[in-house]
Amino acid sequence: MNKIAWVTGAGSGIGEACAIGLAADGYEVVLTGRRREPLAEVAARIKAAGGRAHIKPADLTRAAAVQKVADFIAEKFGRCDLLVNNAGLNILDRTWDKLTPEGIDDVIGTNLNAAFYCARAVLPMMRAQKGGLMVHTASMAGRVVSTLSGATYTAAKHGVVAMSHTINMEECVHGIRSTVMCPGEVNTPILDKRPNKLSAAQRAEMAQPEDCAALVRFIAGMPAHVCINEVLITPTRNRGYIANLGRKL
Ligand SMILES: NC(=O)c1ccc[n+]([C@@H]2O[C@H](COP(=O)([O-])OP(=O)(O)OC[C@H]3O[C@@H](n4cnc5c(N)ncnc54)[C@H](OP(=O)(O)O)[C@@H]3O)[C@@H](O)[C@H]2O)c1
Repeated sequence: MNKIAWVTGAGSGIGEACAIGLAADGYEVVLTGRRREPLAEVAARIKAAGGRAHIKPADLTRAAAVQKVADFIAEKFGRCDLLVNNAGLNILDRTWDKLTPEGIDDVIGTNLNAAFYCARAVLPMMRAQKGGLMVHTASMAGRVVSTLSGATYTAAKHGVVAMSHTINMEECVHGIRSTVMCPGEVNTPILDKRPNKLSAAQRAEMAQPEDCAALVRFIAGMPAHVCINEVLITPTRNRGYIANLGRKL
């Protein structure tokens, strides 16, 4: 029997790399994002490599849409071994002088509410099968308060870190494990929303989506009696640290 993984934000960046990597590791993957086309492209690449993939587009800020995907997984497979709870976004107008109620809803709704909806939706399956792993993509912005990522993103990602730890505190008795992954800068499309544009050379020095996927695959490969509670993963040339040294980036 194949292990089942649900990857959110699977059409690009970290989610795409996780989906492809996990499929190569033998997982049957369910891919979710709002746009169908990138999901279909990722699924086609997985299938061309001999893997199994299903696309389930959904706006994860809507609890009912999240439940529909979870119901599909429960009905089709009867289990969910791994949730890569990864969908997220940021906005350009992220400073307090520019924040709008719509921007607040977008960022908190996608990065925090949707992450809660997805975790909540897979828990019944994981409790029934007496095990399962969730890996939530938070951020260094979930550990450190800075102005770079903006108030809403920073607050939402702090919430994801706390959410993950509470899952372990309550659900460890059911054999359920929750990891919060906190990346620094990763070279993905989300960086196109930075107010300051980044050069190709700057992006090449960052962690790459495949590096995060390698970490997720490692965590998923750990034995069921071990829980990796939290991991920080950053580029070696960490631009935040270098800025603190007062040297040129
Ligand atoms: N790149 C970094 O430097 C970095 C650092 C720390 C943390 N992160 C986190 O890493 C995660 C993945 O981001 P990424 O860097 O790989 O950027 P990305 O390529 O922009 O991926 C984000 C994905 O989330 C999906 N998504 C956004 N809103 C959604 C919604 N309402 N419902 C369903 N799917 C939605 C997007 O697909 P659709 O647009 O098709 O919906 C997209 O595929 C995010 O949680 C991000 O906050 C990134």
